[in-house]
Amino acid sequence: MKPTVVAIDGPAGSGKSTVSKQLASSLGFVHLNSGALYRGITLLALRSGAALGDEARLTEEARTAEMDFGLDGAFLLNGEDVSEHIRASEVDRAVSTVAALPRVRAAVTEQQRRIAAGKSVVIEGRDVTTVVFPNAQVKVYLDASVEERAARRHADLEAQGEQPSLDEVEREIRERDERDRTRADSPLLVAPDAEVIDTTGMSIDDVVSAIARSARSVVG
Ligand code: DC
Repeated sequence: MKPTVVAIDGPAGSGKSTVSKQLASSLGFVHLNSGALYRGITLLALRSGAALGDEARLTEEARTAEMDFGLDGAFLLNGEDVSEHIRASEVDRAVSTVAALPRVRAAVTEQQRRIAAGKSVVIEGRDVTTVVFPNAQVKVYLDASVEERAARRHADLEAQGEQPSLDEVEREIRERDERDRTRADSPLLVAPDAEVIDTTGMSIDDVVSAIARSARSVVG
């Protein structure tokens, strides 16, 4: 079977990660969360004390870091399972600054293509339908109202033991949206040939089924 790429973009909290994970498991594809790579580089910067705008240094990290996903979906960075560390709120706050650096993006794009090479994948992110895999066989843009996205993110953070206020989470989501949509390099955009799904009020299962139908019609 020819490798199939299902690419899913959308803003923070649109349901991408949950949907992509379930979809990959139902199709038997590898799940590739591209945000994890940007979060991984951000984590390295925070740990080493590098300035978030130090493009030369962070690009070198992005080129040379070993990044991969384990069979259980764990994100491995230089051999360490950092799946939980990359979800911390300090990383949330810093990641869009790092993801705005063009040379870091180029290096992370290469890493994504390397990880996906020769496999059937469900890849999710902000530019995977437009820049990383513009020729993906299935392209989807997931969206949801900002209030619903903030409520989802708030529940995730509470589950991790953090206690931010809902207002604070909503403000951070609006700020992150603004940075992701207005950055000069590869801003979050709806690809002209993407199917747009507004997940506000939709169940995860319904979203997964809708995309799985499109994917199965491509795979045949
Ligand atoms: O999906 P996420 O919240 O884990 O993404 C973290 C950050 O990484 C987010 O601010 C946008 C950025 N990102 C990106 O610029 N391009 C991608 N393909 C994936 C994520």
